[in-house]
Amino acid sequence: MKDSSISKFFEKTRKERLDVVRNFANLSEAELEILQGSDGGISFEKADKMVENAIGTFSLPLGIATNFQINGKDYLVPMVIEEPSVIAAASKGAKVARKYGGFDTSADESYSIGQIQVLNADVASEIKIKESENEILSLANSKSNTLSKMGKGAKEVSCKKLETPTGEMLIVELLIDVGDAMGANVTNTMCEAVALLLEEITGGRTLLRILSNYSTKRIAKASAVFDKDEVGGEHVVDNIVLAYQFADNDVYRAVTHNKGIMNGIIAVANATGQDSRAIEAAANAYAARSGRYRSLSKWSKDENGNLVGSLELPLSVGIVGGIANVHPIAKICTKILGVTSAQEMACIMTATGLAQNYSAIHALATDGIQKGHMRLHARNLAAAAGARPEQIDAIVQKMVKENKISLDRAKELLGQI
Ligand code: MEV
Repeated sequence: MKDSSISKFFEKTRKERLDVVRNFANLSEAELEILQGSDGGISFEKADKMVENAIGTFSLPLGIATNFQINGKDYLVPMVIEEPSVIAAASKGAKVARKYGGFDTSADESYSIGQIQVLNADVASEIKIKESENEILSLANSKSNTLSKMGKGAKEVSCKKLETPTGEMLIVELLIDVGDAMGANVTNTMCEAVALLLEEITGGRTLLRILSNYSTKRIAKASAVFDKDEVGGEHVVDNIVLAYQFADNDVYRAVTHNKGIMNGIIAVANATGQDSRAIEAAANAYAARSGRYRSLSKWSKDENGNLVGSLELPLSVGIVGGIANVHPIAKICTKILGVTSAQEMACIMTATGLAQNYSAIHALATDGIQKGHMRLHARNLAAAAGARPEQIDAIVQKMVKENKISLDRAKELLGQI
């Protein structure tokens, strides 16, 4: 069985880290070469086909979070992010969660929602649409042989009326099982395909025909138990619960708290080529689903005094189609995860968000976040000064103790060793 709890991964050289990942994920020489390449995975020619008016490409750091155990399976989690401490924090959270078996996660089937706006619809439109549901679904499904062959595709048509300052409008929604894709394209295609038929049925005029990114039929959940001793004792558990109450009851804190969760989720989304804006927009709406913007996670103490964390949010992600098919590094990152379904991808992302949230809230409820951050910064500087792995700890300790954390000081201290 694979083991993602790789000791001192951060002290390894790039080559050693790549070897670990290669063995873990069975990467080929060609994949290794892509990871080692200097263009961040895409050439200008490729970029020029992806967007308009391209003038170059833009790279970000790709790192690996260790220690993740999710539904009994070990994962090395690729994360693309510019912010220091995030990958270390995710690895730390996952390490503490391992003691009680890691993360329990689940994700809904991938149901995408498409919306068609109908204006001036006849009074009996909702009944007529229900009566024509099969015809609407077959027309929608005629647009995707792939989904139809898999028994997936458009499954349900529903209606809702909106009262607006400019009058009433009818919103027709298609519920579409998009399988392992994110599904934006197929959803939009199906919405456009049924619009004319809806006009005939309702006698109205259709205007917008577009998916909803508020993917409430694609909810992912993760939970984990964090051992009270590893957390730092029951008083720290209690303080973390108080910190959570702050986030859950104050929008100013909730936004920052949820931003920390998104540090984990979006870093995995970036690495695997997901639509991060769709994920962010849906998560923020979900955080406000009660009518008030609240924490996406929940933290409590169990009967044994351990800390229990859970996270729930809509996640529309895919492992086929989209940028994941175009970007070679996104493809390799998906291979490193070894996922076989969009649901598994959503589970990993949710677990990473929860691990991240644990580490942030733990740091905030104890030493504050700057201490760990500065220690990591010092470690990076020691390495940049040329220190060998066995020299790094001494240099870091000295710089932190003196409160003089700089590249020059790291070089001086290295000279003295
Ligand atoms: C920093 O990117 C994220 C945190 O601010 C999250 C939080 O405050 O919970 C540390």
